[in-house]
Amino acid sequence: METQKKLRIIIREPRSRHGGAPIVANPKEMEDIPPDTYPPEWDVPNAYPPYWDFSNERMYNLYMKAKKEQWDEDSLDWKSFGEYLANKTERERAAVAFWFSMLANFDNATGAFARAVIAAHEWHFDAGTVGVFTTIVMDENRHCIMCGKAAFCALKNFPFRKPQSPYEEKARKYAWWVWWNGHRYWNAIKEAFEKYPLPAVFTSFMMGEAAATTVFSGASRGAKHETMRSLFKFTAMDEARHFAFTQFLFEDNQHAFNEDIKKLVTKQIRAGFEFLSLITYKPLRTTKFWKLPRDFEKYYEEVDAIMQDVIGIPPLEFREEAWRKAVMRVGNILSRFGIEMPAIPELGIEGGKIELAEEDIELAPPVF
Ligand SMILES: [Fe+2]
Ligand SMILES: [Fe+2]
Repeated sequence: METQKKLRIIIREPRSRHGGAPIVANPKEMEDIPPDTYPPEWDVPNAYPPYWDFSNERMYNLYMKAKKEQWDEDSLDWKSFGEYLANKTERERAAVAFWFSMLANFDNATGAFARAVIAAHEWHFDAGTVGVFTTIVMDENRHCIMCGKAAFCALKNFPFRKPQSPYEEKARKYAWWVWWNGHRYWNAIKEAFEKYPLPAVFTSFMMGEAAATTVFSGASRGAKHETMRSLFKFTAMDEARHFAFTQFLFEDNQHAFNEDIKKLVTKQIRAGFEFLSLITYKPLRTTKFWKLPRDFEKYYEEVDAIMQDVIGIPPLEFREEAWRKAVMRVGNILSRFGIEMPAIPELGIEGGKIELAEEDIELAPPVF
């Protein structure tokens, strides 16, 4: 409880101060309010006043770019992708449906960013920051829809229908296991928004966005079908913008990073790696976060091989390299602010030794 209080720091001035002395502290009746007065001041967090701060030019430019780069998942050629998959085996289609359900675990991010919009709004962040957050809500919703459309091209209504083959049954069980873990993270992140300042919550996103950018551009280059090529290309474009955003948000709010928050960020980076690795790398044996069936790793390898073959996602070595680069990129940014990177022995990267406990899942925002 004590630490919670210490970490809950105000990162913005209360902007409701209009500079006029309030005459009436708390008017009950209209008659109590003399003419030519200002109202009482009020405290953040509050969605009022509407706040017009256009001074953060870099962020505002990113907001304008985000608006221009919007794309429409419904205009992708789903019909021809469906036809392409119709020629594949039952086992292959089940694997594709599973993989996109697993991707959706991380792109089920509309709610997380909608919460961030509310927080940024209530704490009166500048117009660029609030603006970009609103576009990410839209981006993430699109990413989640595209996962569903892709999964349905493989198996209509998966995993909400009755399985029609043993392959589908296995895929269905394991998709639900992944989502069961997703629900645990959702419970955790709801608390994180209450406990930590917004820029700290979003630091572990930095790694995810950086890794996702590389993995999705790789997937686009290797795509075996045109619809997948476009889907991964546009998603990579969104993720690159999200990465820039997390970086700007971090740099703009460095004043909020005291020694406690800095230590938290180191832990968060490790937590982000452990959580996101499932989709952008491979399941990690060592993590306490994921709770999955004992043979999940074997099943994952089967799916992975099919995904490389049928869809064209990059091989493990490529994904490993993508993570290594993401860690370097983020490490460079953080080291400028005296924040230590965690050790990531899985990638041969040295750093601060971090042991994460099960309850630390709140440190890893579950999405990118
Ligand atoms: Fe993202
Ligand atoms: Fe996303």
